[in-house]
Amino acid sequence: MSLVIIRKNAPTAPWQQAFANQAPDLAVHAWPETGPLEEVDYVLCWAPGAGEIARYPNLKAVFSLGAGVDHLLGDDTIPLHLPIVRMVDKSITDGMVQYVVMAVLNHHRRMNEMRANQAEKIWQKLDLSNPQIGIMGMGGLGKASARALAAMGYRVRGWNRSGRPVEGLEVFGGAGGLKPFLAETDILISLLPHTEETIGILNRETFAALRQGAYIINAGRGEQLVEEDLLSALRSGQICGAMLDVFCKEPLAADHPLWGEERVTVTPHIASWVDPVAGTAHVLRAIEAIKRCEVPEGQVDRTAGY
Ligand code: NDP
Ligand code: OXD
Repeated sequence: MSLVIIRKNAPTAPWQQAFANQAPDLAVHAWPETGPLEEVDYVLCWAPGAGEIARYPNLKAVFSLGAGVDHLLGDDTIPLHLPIVRMVDKSITDGMVQYVVMAVLNHHRRMNEMRANQAEKIWQKLDLSNPQIGIMGMGGLGKASARALAAMGYRVRGWNRSGRPVEGLEVFGGAGGLKPFLAETDILISLLPHTEETIGILNRETFAALRQGAYIINAGRGEQLVEEDLLSALRSGQICGAMLDVFCKEPLAADHPLWGEERVTVTPHIASWVDPVAGTAHVLRAIEAIKRCEVPEGQVDRTAGY
């Protein structure tokens, strides 16, 4: 039995070390080294590339190095029976909560204008009235962000696919719930996964349904945002600014207009990441669950796409 780690653009050493410490009997290979393909039971990967997973004939599961699995689900050659398990860990949740809280505070407390006033020695008390926050995606990350913001005194509402209630929060569900959810929102945050249904969801129509001068935070996936619609909504004043961590094409091209847009803060897909020690523990727990024929935490519903 062996496990292959495929992480093409980042070091694998911290993961190899974590497996060596936590599961010394497990043979772990760092791609492109794989050992005999038929001996590989598990692959732990980020963007392995189309056709890569199908090369391992005896796989029992594929693990994503991140919470998102869009880097795997686009590959039709991955056998349908194979469980795909995403990363679920407090380290990812904590990072995302920090990012969302930072983005909300920076906007709501008008830090860019405060800094600009400081540069001009202007003492001006700007209006800081409390915004209504709307979070798209009430999964692990959306719920934790909502609770952190609510604990700071913000008014927060959520939107999900099922309409499943979340204790202590007002939640809107599905296509029918979208417009009423947007109608009173001043800060719209996307923590949605990338699926057929979420592509392009942050578009002209969505922006028009928000309160005038709303702010956008996107840490879900870049394909959710129609970038030209954001640029035109910024020009019209319907949207007053945005903080974006994810983009249709990453890294963002040097000549992309978003770089130069003063009201947009660009971060390079760093909202959150998993700690290798905790991530390894999650993978090992999932392997044990699979051996017991149980559904591991984080197993993806391949029909829903997340
Ligand atoms: P979960 O799978 O736990 O939650 C997904 C949520 O999105 C659920 O509430 C689900 O609804 C909702 N949802 C899915 N499709 C739709 C839809 N069509 N309409 C409305 N709601 C929908 O995911 P996580 O919270 O763990 O992660 C969310 C995403 O965050 C990841 O998929 C990834 O893309 C992104 N991410 C980004 C990172 C970064 O650094 N920028 C880091 C980590 C994650 P329901 O509850 O009804 O099922
Ligand atoms: C993830 C990410 O999905 O970092 O975990 O985007």
